[in-house]
Amino acid sequence: MLQIGGLWKAFAGFVATRDVSFDLAVGQTHAIIGPNGAGKTTFFNLITGHLRPDRGSVSFEGRDLVGLPPQKIVRLGIARSFQRINVYPRLTVFENVQVALIAHEHQQWNLWRPGRSLYRAGTQELLDLVGLAAEAVEIAGELSYGKQKQLELAIALASQPRLLLLDEPTAGMSPQETAATIASVRDIVKARGLTLLFTEHDMAVVFGIAERISVLHHGEIIASGEPDAVRNDPEVRRVYLGEGGGHGWGGHGQ
Ligand SMILES: Nc1ncnc2c1ncn2[C@@H]1O[C@H](COP(=O)(O)OP(=O)(O)O)[C@@H](O)[C@H]1O
Ligand SMILES: [Mg+2]
Repeated sequence: MLQIGGLWKAFAGFVATRDVSFDLAVGQTHAIIGPNGAGKTTFFNLITGHLRPDRGSVSFEGRDLVGLPPQKIVRLGIARSFQRINVYPRLTVFENVQVALIAHEHQQWNLWRPGRSLYRAGTQELLDLVGLAAEAVEIAGELSYGKQKQLELAIALASQPRLLLLDEPTAGMSPQETAATIASVRDIVKARGLTLLFTEHDMAVVFGIAERISVLHHGEIIASGEPDAVRNDPEVRRVYLGEGGGHGWGGHGQ
């Protein structure tokens, strides 16, 4: 589904993505892990058009994405959430999702088509899906952090992606919010038949849901494979148990 070859990105001489090659199969749930500053967010930005690689290829369903703007890449079927919250804080929860649906559907089909009852049913469906039905009329900016992340997920799903990229979906969450979010993401991925690529610092989450794991270190993929193989990889253990200090397996990090 997603094929990446020889991807390279430097910021003023600092190499953040170093010759990364990567293959994601349809339906896979794949985690990218690595210490802070390893290049995980940069990698996502290169896939979604928020950054342009210095070299290398990104191909989605056989189509070359390099050079395309982010909105175009969303239209092709890739949606993402951001590490920082990205909702309209003064709109209600319902309005946030509704706006996302209207923006997506109008542009895709017909700007002059009547508002389709302003996509109320579709909005409701997405709120149900992410577990925010009860908060529909609350102001988005006043939601708890965890609920704002759920809202972001609903907004991302409004573009009807086939590939979903989540950048640290549980960062800043309480253990309860983390568990609820992960259960919900897992259900949604299954219900919608999505392919999921996510970054995550909480190893319990990673090993709980990832089918494959790739480890980034200083911008390079140092290991990639099934969870058990990655867990036992000597270089991975060195990175996590050695210089990283606090980045142990299994804890709630940060
Ligand atoms: N726009 C940018 N300009 C300069 N340096 C950047 C930029 N974005 C990321 N970096 C650097 O690239 C490295 C990787 O960052 P990032 O991809 O955010 O890592 P991660 O998400 O794994 O924590 C860091 O050293 C960061 O400071
Ligand atoms: Mg990051």
